[in-house]
Amino acid sequence: MAEDLQIIKGTKSEQYEALIPQIKGLLSGEPNLIANLANTAAALKEQFGWFWIGFYLVEKDELVLGPFQGPVACTRIRKGRGVCGSSWEQAKTLIVPDVEKFPGHIACSSLSKSEIVVPLFKDGNIWGVLDVDSSDYNQFDETDQLYLEQIVALLS
Ligand code: SME
Repeated sequence: MAEDLQIIKGTKSEQYEALIPQIKGLLSGEPNLIANLANTAAALKEQFGWFWIGFYLVEKDELVLGPFQGPVACTRIRKGRGVCGSSWEQAKTLIVPDVEKFPGHIACSSLSKSEIVVPLFKDGNIWGVLDVDSSDYNQFDETDQLYLEQIVALLS
């Protein structure tokens, strides 16, 4: 396994296309979930420099903070609450161009301006979500959804 990430410049798609094989390399042969979530968060943070990126994992009727990169964050989110809990409840990716306009958004940091949350599926059940926050508005679109959904599928 290569521990050095090759960071590339280019379009968003080009960046994801270069990153995904490297994430596959990082995950290859490693069965430990926490190690894999941690390295995936670190790789995405290194390539894209987002304000916050990390995982929340389902525990009963709550999401609990998992491996992440960025400032300290809320530890528990109820199902249906905030963007993360809504993504879990609706079982779909949510793209939020302006977090202040999302009813019930949970502001772990006032610096977060836009957000994407991608559910993690295994055998039709959601076991967690990937949450990405940017300090700029309108930072996430269908391209992020496409590639982030591919990346989280590697983790299930
Ligand atoms: N904003 C999220 C909470 C998690 S933090 O952004 C890290 C939400 O509304 O669910």
